[in-house]
Amino acid sequence: LPVLRVAVLGAGTVGTEVLRLISQQGEDLAHRIGARLDVVGVAVRDTTRDRGEHVPAALLTTDPSALVREADLVIEVMGGIEPARSLLLEAMSHGASVVTANKALLAQDGSSLYEAADTHGVDLYFEAAVAGAIPLVRPVRESLAGDRIQRVLGIVNGTTNYILDAMTRSGASFEEALATAQELGYAEADPTADVQGHDAAAKASILASLAFHSRVRLSDVHCEGITDVSAQDIAASARMGRTIKLLSIVERVQDESGERISARVYPALIPDGHPLASVSEAYNAVFIEADAAGSLMFYGQGAGGAPTASAILGDVVSAASQRVRGGVGPRESRYAELDLIPLDDL
Ligand code: NAP
Ligand code: HSE
Repeated sequence: LPVLRVAVLGAGTVGTEVLRLISQQGEDLAHRIGARLDVVGVAVRDTTRDRGEHVPAALLTTDPSALVREADLVIEVMGGIEPARSLLLEAMSHGASVVTANKALLAQDGSSLYEAADTHGVDLYFEAAVAGAIPLVRPVRESLAGDRIQRVLGIVNGTTNYILDAMTRSGASFEEALATAQELGYAEADPTADVQGHDAAAKASILASLAFHSRVRLSDVHCEGITDVSAQDIAASARMGRTIKLLSIVERVQDESGERISARVYPALIPDGHPLASVSEAYNAVFIEADAAGSLMFYGQGAGGAPTASAILGDVVSAASQRVRGGVGPRESRYAELDLIPLDDL
């Protein structure tokens, strides 16, 4: 079988699990792809730390730039805007395909990445950037591409759902619940992105861009997090038969100005009988409404190393298989230039 050289950027919560799956499932993956995956290096900041049996010390490097230049496929799980953006652009300019979980980067500057993928004829996959293990990007980007999506609505941040659930069910404090979510590997390196709603807003911008074939940036999304939700709010909601959930909603809106997009993230009171009210721990749940398909519901683990690595490996199989066949995967379809509802009007 031919060999594909794989560079992994980051070996934290997600990267370690990606490397475990590649190592444990190497034979199966090779048969599915039609090529062997050879991990040629793993970029980290600290090469002295032991990262377990699936991350050999000999592969660790602090020179990600050199690493991406020798790769056919780059898996980016380091997070942050820089140096991740420059490294992915460099990788694509050298002909590598990219798989990334970096929703912050996609939401802030996805256009640079899409353009580089087009220019260099390589693939850019990012299933893990939205809702962990749940297949959501591919359904919106590909399966529903022939339909007309009206709305995508749901819970897309595991950390805040974990915190709200722990405060509701076991009376944990906000701080205790956040600390546990961090220990379990659900939270971002800087958890303010989770609790202030920016992570959910980044995912909303990605979903809106895909669903409406337009370009919606993080700054276009109205965003309220859960930092002002108190134990008293949760108790009062419970007395009213309601559960507080952080919702992300992106939808087409018809008004006197024509068709526009609304994108917003905020804590909402969900009636206890509604399926979203019973989404527990770091699970996510998302409804999609489309003209022909009707209503679809997606549910599963929205955060954590192994669930996220599952989504990444799916992308790795797609990107690697395309390289073996000499094809390319889905491209950005940005034909609609829909206006956004101004944030002040939401
Ligand atoms: P993490 O545990 O903080 O791991 C980040 C890794 O990247 C670490 O190994 C770190 O090296 C390395 N790194 C960071 N900056 C670097 C730099 N400048 N040069 C070289 N290496 C660098 O983060 P994570 O939770 O795995 O998340 C990684 C990405 O996946 C993020 O984009 C995140 O948003 C996304 N994601 C995470 C989850 C989740 O549930 N955790 C789910 C979906 C998507 P050191 O170990 O040496 O510090
Ligand atoms: N911090 C993110 C969350 C990771 O809690 O949902 C998954 O994207």
